[in-house]
Amino acid sequence: MIFDTHAHYDDEQFEEDRDCLLSSMQEGGVGTIVNVAADLQSWTAIRQLVKAYPFIYGAAGVHPDYVGELCEEQFARLKELLKEEKFVAVGEIGLDYYWDKENHDMQKKWFVRQLDLARQLDLPVIIHSREAAADTMEIMNTHGRGLSGVIHCYSYSVEQAREYVDMGFYLGIGGVVTFKNAKKLKEVVEEISLEHLVLETDCPYLSPVPNRGKRNSSLNLIYVAEEIAKIKNISADEVIRQTQENARRLYRI
Ligand code: NI
Repeated sequence: MIFDTHAHYDDEQFEEDRDCLLSSMQEGGVGTIVNVAADLQSWTAIRQLVKAYPFIYGAAGVHPDYVGELCEEQFARLKELLKEEKFVAVGEIGLDYYWDKENHDMQKKWFVRQLDLARQLDLPVIIHSREAAADTMEIMNTHGRGLSGVIHCYSYSVEQAREYVDMGFYLGIGGVVTFKNAKKLKEVVEEISLEHLVLETDCPYLSPVPNRGKRNSSLNLIYVAEEIAKIKNISADEVIRQTQENARRLYRI
């Protein structure tokens, strides 16, 4: 069964048909979903989702775009939430210099604090890094050693991919790999062994071809698995089986 390691079903784009859609997952070949937090608001919604659906697990943290909302009081709340049942990772956390919504010092400060929290609670981390390759690597080298986790929506070079894999991290591969112009990511998928890759949607965003531009859901991951299979010259079933095993190891489920 397909394991979606990164979804945002708490997003308002699922307001209309969330229950109906999530109820169709098992039949659609999707076995497990980890719903990842972005802002503080999402925490409560994710708590409800993991309670309502046996196959949904949660991650809690604050995305770099929203770290301006964080303070010591909310950070303490995050720590308590992460101790709850079915919360399996700290995320998503990291640096985003593309949207650049918060200043870099603020982004770095809360990134490091959340890495330290993961270490304290013995949880894996879900890293978001966009146009911040050098700073992310530097922080991971100084504060991420010994941690495990996933580099979500991996978008950097093959060389950096090898470095993260050597640190024990998985690479999250999603809809982008099906895009014609995604030469660099296809190369990463070709070079890095399947044992280090996991499937992810980042839904409602980043729908793969042939549904590019539409709202994404875990049901589309079959297209990502097929593309990886094509690049690696193996079967889609093998991709689904191995990435599920990887995801279970990643989140210790
Ligand atoms: Ni995300």
